[in-house]
This record gives sequence, C-alpha cells and structure tokens, in this order.
Amino acid sequence: MSDKSVTAINEATISIEELDRIEKQAASISCPLPLPEHEKNSLMEEIKELLEQKDAVLIAHYYVDDDLQELALKTGGHVSDSLEMARFGHDHPAQTLIVAGVRFMGETAKILNPEKRVLMVEDEATCSLDLSCPIDRFSTFCDAHPDRKVVVYANTSAAIKARSDWVVTSGIALDIVRHLHEQGEKILWAPDRHLGDYIQHQTGADMLLWGGVCVVHDEYRSKELMLMKEEMPDAMVLVHPESPRSIIQLADFVGSTTGLINAVQQSDAKRFIVATDRGIFYKMRSIAGDKELIEAPTAGKGASCVSCGHCPWMAINTLHKIRDILKNGGKTIEIDNKIAKQALIPIQRMLDFAAQREVDMKIRGDA
Ligand code: 13P
Ligand code: SF4
Repeated sequence: MSDKSVTAINEATISIEELDRIEKQAASISCPLPLPEHEKNSLMEEIKELLEQKDAVLIAHYYVDDDLQELALKTGGHVSDSLEMARFGHDHPAQTLIVAGVRFMGETAKILNPEKRVLMVEDEATCSLDLSCPIDRFSTFCDAHPDRKVVVYANTSAAIKARSDWVVTSGIALDIVRHLHEQGEKILWAPDRHLGDYIQHQTGADMLLWGGVCVVHDEYRSKELMLMKEEMPDAMVLVHPESPRSIIQLADFVGSTTGLINAVQQSDAKRFIVATDRGIFYKMRSIAGDKELIEAPTAGKGASCVSCGHCPWMAINTLHKIRDILKNGGKTIEIDNKIAKQALIPIQRMLDFAAQREVDMKIRGDA
C-alpha cells in the first residue's frame, strides 16, 4: 500500500446537501414484498413464453431479487456483474435485451448494441453514483484538469462516459488504474469517492476524486462490524470496495461482486460476513449452500433512518413489471447518436483491456 495522499476536491464536485437529497430519494422508495409461491410460478411461466415469442432475453444483476435471478437462469438469460452483463448482451443473438438492474446497465447494453431494442424492467431504477455526477459540472471539472486521464466508474450516465478516457467496473478498476499509473498518467476519478480512495491506496496513483457515494455501501458501520467480528472470530469478512475505508480496513478480502462470490467458493471458511448488497446471497448460496452468510451491519443503533444492505433501485425490479413490458411494450433506452458513439470508445477500451488481461492470465497460468 502507498501512503501517497489523495487530492479529493469533494466540495467542488458534490455538496453535502446534494448527497443528503440523494440519500432521501433512495430512502423514500418502498421495496416490494416477496410474492406468494403460486403467483411467482405462474408469472414465471407466462414470462418464459413471452420472452420466446418476442425474441427477448433477460439479463440480470447479482443484486436484484432472487425470483428475477432465478427467472433469468431458467430462461437462458444471464445473471452477473455489470461487466459480464454488457458482454452477454453483446454476444447473445436475441434482438431485445431486457435489463433487470439499474439504468446505467441498460445504457451500457444499448451503447454496445445500438441495433437492438433495450428495455429496462424498471425505467426509474437509477443509482446514487449516477445521480451524484451531472454532466455539466463534471465537464467543468474535467476542463479544469486537462493534464489528467479521465477514468469513470460504469455507474454513470452515457454522457459522462462520453466525456471520459476510460470506463471501468469494480472488477477491473484496480488493474486499469495500475496500468495508467505505470505509464506515468495522473487520474481524474469519478464518481465513487470510496472506490477511488481504495484504488489510490492500492496503486499509489495520483488521483483526483469526485465526491459521490453508493447509498447502500456507505451505510456499513465499522463499530458494529468490529463487534460482529469479535462474536464470530472464525467468519471471513468480505467487502465491496464501494464501502468506506473504515470498513475496508476490517476486511479479510476486498473485491468486486464476482470477486466476492469467488472468495466464498474458494475459501475454506465456513461462514462469511458480507458487506455488499444482499441480492448477491442468491448466487453465493447456489455455489456454496453449506456455508453461512451473514449481512454486515448497516447504520448503527443511533441512526435515525432505516437502512439495509439492499439497493432500493435494484429492489424495484419485479416479475410483474417484466411481464407488463413484454406484453404491453415498455420505454426503450434511447441515447443520442453522437453521445453513444463517443461513449463506446472508453467502454470498448475497457473490454479490450479485459480481454487482454484474460489472455495474459492464461499465459501465466492464473486462469
Ligand atoms: P459490479 O460492477 O461489481 O457489478 O457492481 C455494480 C454495482 O452497482 C455495485 O454496487
Ligand atoms: Fe448504485 Fe449502490 Fe445501487 Fe450499486 S448498490 S446500483 S452503486 S446505489
């Protein structure tokens, strides 16, 4: 780890009041209740037929509710992290992609597949990181630092991606920033300050950080996590790097959604405290059903809000909504041509980098 300090200009990027407003917006969403088994099964059957009729495929993120992940897998669709979602949509022959996740995932699918119809299960499903980074202010920030490579997290709008040099997901961010740092590049990073801070500490790169946060990961509490660790000294602590530094410091393993799933599968530990969205437990249980999974504690006892480890925007993706958009049509994702073409460049750069990384790992015998 490097002790080089990060130059974070949080106030120039996003104010505490704006972060507060986004947090309130997230807190105002009520998550739907699980469906009774018979209703779930009949909806799944109906959707299965509709997907075939409409030449559509369902692509879901690890954070959506269990029934949607189950449906995607049962119908030849896909469940994965955001990088693999983008890749799958590109490779699959279906002409319509139904994205169960949040808006930036649908936009990325559309940018990679301009000839396909891309529909969000829930058009309003967004992300606090995306909301925290409006294009006008971001552009001004970039203009003020022309000497830096602009690296943005995938959790951003198409316009932000179009203004960047590189797009990264949590699964590849560390390797790309390390690569740029080795080439002597200085970095402007947006929008997740915790992920940026983690990467800076791991790589020693000179990084200027936007001040956004993920409303879910920002809720984990270190004091409560420490107490939980004391109660369960045998449990392995798994942390997504969108979490604050105080949580990352308590981790036995830090990684992207896929990295955390692999850790559960590969580790000898019998129980895990997991600091990321609990939707991921569905996949973890399916590959390691004998292991105990425990949610890391969110907002401490003194907190005034009700918080939990589940993204409210992921939660509003439902089976009913999938059925309805397949039956009645939904709003397709449309992106201005010029923006889409420009955004494709840094996304493709990431995909090419990922493909090369796989080749290198195979040669080294790591894959
Ligand atoms: P992944 O890129 O690991 O899928 O994570 C996306 C996300 O939104 C995490 O909160
Ligand atoms: Fe965005 Fe956080 Fe939800 Fe992921 S979990 S989509 S980063 S708000």
